[in-house]
Order: sequence, then structure tokens, then C-alpha cells
Amino acid sequence: MSAPIAISIKIVSPVRGHAEAWEEALRKGEPSYPATTIPQALHEVSVIVNGSRPDLVVVEVTASEDLAALEALAKAHPEIDYLLVGAEMTAEVLMRAMRAGVRDVLPAPAAPEAVRDAVLRLLRKRPAALAAAAERHGQVLAFISCKGGSGATFTAANLAHMLAAKGERNVALIDMNLQFGDALLFVSSVQPVSNVADVARNIQRLDRELLQSAMLRVGPGLHVLASPDDPAQASDVTRPNVQAIVQLATTMFDYVVIDVGRSLSAVTLQVLDLADRIYAVMQLTLPYIRDGKRLRDVFRSLDYPAQKIHWIVNRYEKSGQLTLQDVKKAMGVPELLTLPNQYDVVAASVNQGVAVGTLSPKSQIARALQELAERIAPPPLAPARSGWLGGLFRGASPSTGSEA
Ligand SMILES: Nc1ncnc2c1ncn2[C@@H]1O[C@H](COP(=O)(O)OP(=O)(O)O)[C@@H](O)[C@H]1O
Ligand SMILES: [Mg+2]
Repeated sequence: MSAPIAISIKIVSPVRGHAEAWEEALRKGEPSYPATTIPQALHEVSVIVNGSRPDLVVVEVTASEDLAALEALAKAHPEIDYLLVGAEMTAEVLMRAMRAGVRDVLPAPAAPEAVRDAVLRLLRKRPAALAAAAERHGQVLAFISCKGGSGATFTAANLAHMLAAKGERNVALIDMNLQFGDALLFVSSVQPVSNVADVARNIQRLDRELLQSAMLRVGPGLHVLASPDDPAQASDVTRPNVQAIVQLATTMFDYVVIDVGRSLSAVTLQVLDLADRIYAVMQLTLPYIRDGKRLRDVFRSLDYPAQKIHWIVNRYEKSGQLTLQDVKKAMGVPELLTLPNQYDVVAASVNQGVAVGTLSPKSQIARALQELAERIAPPPLAPARSGWLGGLFRGASPSTGSEA
């Protein structure tokens, strides 16, 4: 069964009758697009803060303050599509609106059918890859650092390597730490030919082949989409782009492991929203615990269910001053996963760009990662390879496994 693709639409108009008529036209049409109405002037409300972040905003502008508010909103949230309804729009106003990123303009008064048609036009222009969402089967695992240096990237990259299990499963490692990403370096020393910003710039052409070709195969079953080298390219990656890339990846891979880095932005929040599980990586010292609590509060404010969040204490040493029990209590979490501190093995792995599972499979840290991988994907392995991908990868990995 193919689930409808959830698109969040908000309608903002100071004229309640307009907002309600447009909402009805969107809801009653086929396909039905439910929308939220905000019967107020744009400059009096915050469409971002109230409830969920929309994908598309229909806004009726009746005063110059509204236009200024729209410009500010579109500048701050370029990832949202805007449809502007307004009367007596001069060429200058139209120019300003378009420059701010407004995608379409309708003259007021706008008939409900005209609004619906314009919304459908905009939705059609959204990345085609969104349509693939219904075919999703892979799980999204997001790794976030409570504080820089926690080991989130190390854990994400090495866990992705473990999950791939020498080609038993197909795993994507996506680096969404867009400004200073380094996930690829933990598992490879090869320079990538393409990165996530390149994919974002080609989003209209995005399909499985394009995504596959942008990824670097670093070993059997493990494919990495690197972050851009140039931090300035981060701005090419928008929230809808990320949604399209991640959702498409879930139709191609059994696991999509994403390094989120440590900053919260429209892009990283989108990744966290899409994740089936979030792994927050910390260490057993007070600064990490303090930032861990902050992150816990962010997750609460986002209304994520408790079972979506998993906490990893990295570089754990039993002899440390703080105990796991202390941290569980301080954080108010029922369980902490641990990964041991093993400087020599990890440093060698990082310096060589070889996963610990390959470099030193019997080491304590490799075994702990293996255990974590088995908790996520318990053996016996049941590779759920989709037909076309099996075709692409045939010959790439010796094992084939049985059909799930
Ligand atoms: N379990 C570990 N044992 C020893 N050193 C570790 C361990 N995990 C991470 N490190 C070291 O910490 C450094 C920072 O880790 P990294 O994954 O880049 O942190 P983050 O992504 O959270 O900023 C790594 O380069 C690695 O050398
Ligand atoms: Mg990192």
C-alpha cells in the first residue's frame, strides 16, 4: 500500500473566510491536501513556531508590513515554498516578492480553485524523489554529537561499516555535517568525486542512479555520500533537498546512517525528524552531560517519542569519576549504551582512514561496535535487497544471502 506523502501546508490570511475557503478547496479535492489555517495577518504570527514546520505557505498580504514579514520569513526559511496572494501588486512589489523567494503570485481576490491549482503546480515542482517515499524500507539512524569531539562521527562511520557486515547488507553513510564534515575520512582515504551539495544542486534530476553515482563505495555494502569540501556549499543543501535525498536513500539501502554533527539547523532538524532512531553521543564528564541535557530538552520540545532516542557514552572507562548510574539519574534516561575508550586502535584507524572493524576486528572497540550493530540489526542476517540495487551491486560483493 502506498501511503500519501505528507506535505504540511499552512494558509495565512487576515480574512478568515478566504483562509477557510482555500483550506476547503485543498482538503476536498482529489488528491486531498490537508492544510492548517491561521486567520491572521502574517506580520502578527509566526508560522514557524506555531506547530509543525510547513513545507508550503499560502499567504495573503493586505498591508506593507505583511510583505516585509514575508520577505523576512522567506529569507530565514528558503526551504519553504511560498504562494503569495495580494491585490494591486506593483511591478516593484512583485520583484521584491520573487527576489525573496516567493514561488508564485495570485491576484486577490483569489478563487479557491485558483489557489488549489497554484498549490498543485508548486507541489509538482518539488523534487520528484519525494514520490519514492512510499517504497521506503531502509531504516534511518541519525548520530548527533552532544558536544564536539564526543565521537559521533567515529561511531556513525564505524557502525555503518559494521552494519554493512562485509556486504551482507547495503548501508549508506551520509555526512550531513555540511560545514566541516569528515565522516568519509574515518572509513576511507579516497577523495570523493561528488558530495551532498552536488546532489542538492541537481535535485530536480535526482533519482537512484544519480544518488548512487554521487556516493563512494568504500567497501562491500558500504556507500558514502560525503559532505562538501567547501563550507560555503552548505547553503546549497535545503530542507526539502535533504528530505528527498534521505527518503530516496531508504528505498535503496537497508540502513541509512547519517552523521548530523552537532549544530541544530533546518537541515539537521529535518534529518532528526526523518530518523527512525537518534543516537546522541556523549562522554562521561560534566560538560558533555550538561550539553546532553540540553539536547534531551530539545528532543522533548520536538515531541520525539522516548524510544526514538538512544544515548551512547563513548570513551567509557569504568574507573572514571562519574558512574553510568549518576548520568542516568542526571539525564533522566533509562538506558545508556557504552563504547570503550581505546586510544591506540581508534587513533590508528582515524589516521589511516580504515574502519576499526577492518583494522583491528578483535579489539575491544570493534567488538563493542559489533554488539551495537547486532542490537540494531540482529543476526541471522536478512538482507532486504531491492531488485534493481541487487543488479547494480552484483559482482560488488561475494555474498548474496537469502531473500527476506
Ligand atoms: N572510543 C574511542 N576511543 C578513543 N578515541 C576515540 C573514541 N571515539 C572517538 N575517539 C577520538 O575522538 C576524536 C573525535 O571524534 P569524532 O567522532 O570526530 O567526534 P564528533 O564527531 O562527536 O565531534 C576522533 O578523532 C578519535 O580520535
Ligand atoms: Mg564529527
